[in-house]
Amino acid sequence: MQVINQIDALRQALWQHRLNGASIAFVPTMGNLHEGHLQLIDRAHEAADIVVASIFVNPLQFGPGEDFNGYPRTFENDQAKLTERGCHILFAPTVDEMYPETQISATVVKVPHLSSIHCGASRPGHFTGVATVVAKLFGIVQPDYAVFGLKDFQQFLVIKQLTEDLCLPLEIIGAPIARAESGLALSSRNGYLSVEELEQAAALYRCLANTRTSIDAGNLNFNELEVAAKADLETAGFTPDYFTVCRQQDLLPASAEDKELVIIAAAYLGQARLIDNLHFQRL
Ligand code: PAF
Repeated sequence: MQVINQIDALRQALWQHRLNGASIAFVPTMGNLHEGHLQLIDRAHEAADIVVASIFVNPLQFGPGEDFNGYPRTFENDQAKLTERGCHILFAPTVDEMYPETQISATVVKVPHLSSIHCGASRPGHFTGVATVVAKLFGIVQPDYAVFGLKDFQQFLVIKQLTEDLCLPLEIIGAPIARAESGLALSSRNGYLSVEELEQAAALYRCLANTRTSIDAGNLNFNELEVAAKADLETAGFTPDYFTVCRQQDLLPASAEDKELVIIAAAYLGQARLIDNLHFQRL
């Protein structure tokens, strides 16, 4: 695997592959890779000839008091895992390379409605930071495909929307959520949990699954289901942020007529803020 830190050098390497007629799939990450990320690499291999991953802990998407400084940086390990999974190129720019000082008041990409609700309401500016860095990375890599995990369902919709709105010529692929045996969605932030909290954390998925079971059994009183799920999360030791039954297409609250649903949730446990979702077509 080639490791490249500079935009120009990456462009040159990719130019050569394009001249050879190769298609390119891109997997942007912030590193601290787990099996979920590696499944994105597998999915990228299915889509295209050349797989490019990036590791960049993007300061723009962390708010004041969030974990930018403490975010786990495990570059050597990540490099080994990507090599093992057959990734061809790893792009690992510095903050200066991505945001030169002269760009301090540079262009940002904002996806209005989707960025202001749920995680966007709790983390103001977060999705503008994500949309901006992803648009920049797309401009740098110019992939034919980009693969994102569906655990970050709201992020996935933000990225699909910006791709469509900016007429970017690539296909966005959503990859299924990788879960531990307990049901807990794999996440870099699970590393903040103690052994005991890791066991407790499975309650987040259980609450989502129970809510889905109730919906499939015909209970369409979503408000009542949300209140019950939040109470269950509290009993399990979480401090819920939100737990909402939404329409998949725009994440607005679902009504009894909607069939394509996503139950999205965020909750605090110990040092971690965990997110998860279940997206499905109701019976
Ligand atoms: O999901 C992530 O790891 C990040 O939000 C992303 C998409 C790599 C942008 O920094």
